[in-house]
Amino acid sequence: MNDKPEGIVEILIQREAIGQRIAELGSEISAAYKDRLPLVVGVLKGCVPFISDLVKEIEIPLEIDFISLMSYADVRRPGGAVRITKDLDCVIEGRDVLLVEGIIDTGMTAGYLLRNLEARRPKSLRVCTFLDKEARRIVRIPIAFRGFKVPDRFVVGYGLDFRQLYRNLPYVGILSDEITGLNRR
Ligand code: IMP
Ligand code: MG
Repeated sequence: MNDKPEGIVEILIQREAIGQRIAELGSEISAAYKDRLPLVVGVLKGCVPFISDLVKEIEIPLEIDFISLMSYADVRRPGGAVRITKDLDCVIEGRDVLLVEGIIDTGMTAGYLLRNLEARRPKSLRVCTFLDKEARRIVRIPIAFRGFKVPDRFVVGYGLDFRQLYRNLPYVGILSDEITGLNRR
């Protein structure tokens, strides 16, 4: 099942390593939110395999909600602009919110989300990201729980896509420059 499909030049994180790390994250989160009822908010769609496996490793009661964003290039705003395309179903005022992301790259998206959610007055707001591409960070994001650091390469799988493909790979792989067209994102 670890055979590489076309375009994947290297498997960066094997599925066994992902499973182990998520079990550790689940323990950390269970301890951090003991005696609370966290609202785990997944950022669609990149979070899906991660949040699905993660919540099963969290041993305390929790609730789940989702939010979906679209970022688009905008010449007037460096780094583009972000818009919410599907908002949360629930009110987060007074709640302990844990935002779950597939990857944080420049930090623009997470930065926008944190500002937007903070304005709704949650009791606490923390970030859990599966992958952290910290070399490209522009906006500083406090990350409370992190799966793995990744190098400055375009990675796919385990929720992460290139043009909506590869999300279903059970591992994280590096996509070839021929497919990405050299650093296009
Ligand atoms: P940001 O630059 O932190 O705002 O990240 C924006 C979005 O770009 C992420 O949520 C991902 O959807 C996408 N992204 C960034 N780096 C990668 C990558 O290596 N593979 C797949 N998607 C990526
Ligand atoms: Mg994408």
